[in-house]
Amino acid sequence: MARAKTVYACSACGARSPQWAGQCGDCGAWNTLTEVVPMPGPASGRITGYTGKGKLPVVPLAAVKADTETRSSTGLQELDRVLGGGLVSGSVVLIGGDPGIGKSTLLLQVLATLSGEMQALYITGEESPEQILLRAERLGVTDSDLRLVSETSVERIIETARHEKPRVMVLDSIQTLYTEMLQSAPGSVAQVREAAGQLVRFAKQSGTAMFLVGHVTKEGALAGPRVLEHMVDTVLYFEGDPGDRFRMLRAVKNRFGAVNELGVFAMTSAGLKEVRNPSAIFLSRHETAVPGSVVMVTWEGTRPILVEVQALVDQSQLSNPRRVTLGLEQNRLSMLLAVLHRHAGLVTGDQDVFVNVVGGVRVSETAADLAVLLAVTSSVGNKPLPGDLVVFGEVGLSGELRPVPNGQERLNEAVKHGFKQAIIPAANRPREPVAGLDVFAADRLAQVLDRISNES
Ligand code: TYD
Ligand code: MG
Repeated sequence: MARAKTVYACSACGARSPQWAGQCGDCGAWNTLTEVVPMPGPASGRITGYTGKGKLPVVPLAAVKADTETRSSTGLQELDRVLGGGLVSGSVVLIGGDPGIGKSTLLLQVLATLSGEMQALYITGEESPEQILLRAERLGVTDSDLRLVSETSVERIIETARHEKPRVMVLDSIQTLYTEMLQSAPGSVAQVREAAGQLVRFAKQSGTAMFLVGHVTKEGALAGPRVLEHMVDTVLYFEGDPGDRFRMLRAVKNRFGAVNELGVFAMTSAGLKEVRNPSAIFLSRHETAVPGSVVMVTWEGTRPILVEVQALVDQSQLSNPRRVTLGLEQNRLSMLLAVLHRHAGLVTGDQDVFVNVVGGVRVSETAADLAVLLAVTSSVGNKPLPGDLVVFGEVGLSGELRPVPNGQERLNEAVKHGFKQAIIPAANRPREPVAGLDVFAADRLAQVLDRISNES
């Protein structure tokens, strides 16, 4: 096949150019030119007027017949739940995460399970078949019907897949694949976009369920400036503390289910094991209460999880004191510290403030506000909070406590794990008292801080 001419297009204005340049000649944007597949223009060189010949069939919405989507269980309930109830045929799932987090391990396990009931194909562009075998031995899945291909050309992969007719396939990883239509190196934006595009088209035409593995760059984005996220049906991120054995799989986009659903796994010597009841694994359980630590109930997808929020406030040596968060949003911390200053008179302007969620969990909901503020206050005063206390609630700019969803369920979860006191927003006050739990429901942050300082 003769190679087509190389064409570059500007991602900002769409202008095309035969050579790469740092700046787009048309709109003047920098670093926006990427290689694209040249499109053949209309034969006559100009677009002909509407003749009515190429008219598409138009149907009323009510007449569309819904194919009930067929879902298969992946053998791991935690993954099924994140996918919205199992793997949908013809869907494309992108799994992103840091190197070594366990993407290949998870997919090898899943594919080995699925190969029992359907044709399954594992395409590896990164590792040799021998390496995959070694991993399969560790996982104890060597006797499955799984089939392997080691290849990086998308065209050849699709041709093989047309022949093999798998119902489910894994591509590990998208950054190692390349299409013969482009000259840029594998892993470049243009290659990743084009390779994924061809694979997605194949998955939809053939009804093959597809898992794409994507590496996350240092900036936290999937290489290929998140172009992949728009093209696939489901985006899952593998998260976790590398030093910890727990791994969390989070859905950030899902055309077939709820987002922000969280699946929890533990990495063991024989692969990933699911953690069915993860609600309390992230608590560090101090012997005695320590300053700067508080337990909150966060809501992940469809269930509550108890996590510990820790803060350390320390005299700063810098003219610009540090505000560092792990597992929480950084800007929100600055905002909360300002609220603490204005509405509680607690000055942290000359202090470094570090806030961490234990266990590598990411909490993105505002219900963490109250926990962050109480942890900070406790660290500043060097006074521990009661060990049997849980909190949750959003804090507004005027120092008010705002309600969060699922208050009742969060309290029930806290009671289940033996917590005896709760501090929550007034609007989340349970309708009936919760047995065994002393609930303090407040309207304002100041009330909460008053109560805490009176207690100790
Ligand atoms: P891997 O799936 O290769 O990560 P990724 O594909 O996301 O880069 O996982 C590798 C890590 O998992 C590696 O550090 C070894 C560890 N591991 C176990 O602890 N137990 C196991 O059974 C397996 C297969 C891997
Ligand atoms: Mg891998």
